Amino acid sequence: MTKIRTGVSLKPFHTFGTSVSAEMLAEAASAAEAQEIIAYSQTSNLPLTILGGGSNVLFSHDLDGLVLLNRIKGIGEADRDDTTIKVRVGAGENWHQFVEYCIRNNWGGVENLALIPGNVGASPMQNIGAYGVELESVFDSLEALHIPTGEMHSFSKSDCSFGYRESVFKGKFRGQYLITHVTFALQLQPNFNTTYGAIELELESMGVEKSIRSVADAVIRIRQSKLPDPKVLGNAGSFFKNPVVNGLQFLNLVSEFPDIPTYPAGTDQKKLAAGWLIEQCGWKGKRIGACGVHEKQALVLVNYGGATGEEIYALSQHIMDDVADKFGVYLEREVNII
Ligand code: FAD
Ligand code: EPU
Repeated sequence: MTKIRTGVSLKPFHTFGTSVSAEMLAEAASAAEAQEIIAYSQTSNLPLTILGGGSNVLFSHDLDGLVLLNRIKGIGEADRDDTTIKVRVGAGENWHQFVEYCIRNNWGGVENLALIPGNVGASPMQNIGAYGVELESVFDSLEALHIPTGEMHSFSKSDCSFGYRESVFKGKFRGQYLITHVTFALQLQPNFNTTYGAIELELESMGVEKSIRSVADAVIRIRQSKLPDPKVLGNAGSFFKNPVVNGLQFLNLVSEFPDIPTYPAGTDQKKLAAGWLIEQCGWKGKRIGACGVHEKQALVLVNYGGATGEEIYALSQHIMDDVADKFGVYLEREVNII
């Protein structure tokens, strides 16, 4: 049986840097070990929490029960044809290290997703996205342990119902699966996507040819210029989703706020920039006690040291209330509150 530790501080296992503890904690290095730990939690009636890199969670209290750290490793070729290579990756591999592995092999598709913290297993949970690319564009399939029965199930892309920061694992199957492996379909002849934001400008200022390496480097430079490094300042990336509004609400907002930035989001819908809405409410760079709103990116809440989960949650509620009062738009938290 895998070693189970008791009364463990979770500080090293999440990026917000709050002081919280778990009643019990165990690491699974294989699907079989994960099965064993889950069976133990079930026979002992212990609530189960799954964690990867802890970069998209806010703990609102100490955790009762068992925290399972997914540490299933391994990267291997699953299939290949003239244009595509399929690569099967253990859910406990670090996401950015996997991106670097693809870059070294000249496999295209994940370079725009460079420097996103966390592990491979969580990447399909919220269909991670950045700089014009979402995980679903390189996703082939995944394997997951069905927690109630202990059976292994496979999911194709259509089974996952991917959407903007959404999947079936955050929706109807929330809490029911532990993802053990993800298979990606990567391009052998890269097909660059550099139209989003400042990538082209960054490449120009770097004075380099477009390549998988240089596009990733441009993304890394842009990210480092505005997002706080969790090793220095506790955070979980964007705290809220960018809200999507319908055509009528959009027209009303534009007539009252002509500068409001918007992006297309399907038929008769527009996506708004939550960072802009929050900034307009005067929150950017504001600090309340030990937590606050990042000075370079209003969508990111930060822990200056010593903040509690409750304080960060209360700050997020305050921001949501102000945005609703000023714009009539209801922000949704992107971070998982546990
Ligand atoms: P965790 O935080 O450990 O877990 C997240 C959720 O998934 C939890 O509910 C957990 O229970 C569940 N979970 C984790 N692993 C598994 C598994 N194997 N099986 C089942 N459930 C599981 N996200 C983006 O999309 N785009 C960005 O650009 C981006 N930038 C970020 C920048 C910073 C500085 C930070 C701190 C975060 C950023 N994020 C971004 C958010 C975060 O990096 C991603 O959501 C990442 O995929 C989370 O991975 P994780 O392993 O840390 O997940
Ligand atoms: N903006 C402001 N003020 C701010 C921040 C943003 O006005 O303080 C406005 C600007 O108009 C800016 C626009 O918002 O042009 C977009 O900002 P940015 O490019 O920084 O991206 P974002 O919409 O704030 C999203 C993702 C990020 C992802 C980036 C890049 C969400 C919730 N967030 O942020 O993902 O890295 O785009 O693609 O969709 C995450 O999920 O944790 C995350 C960091």
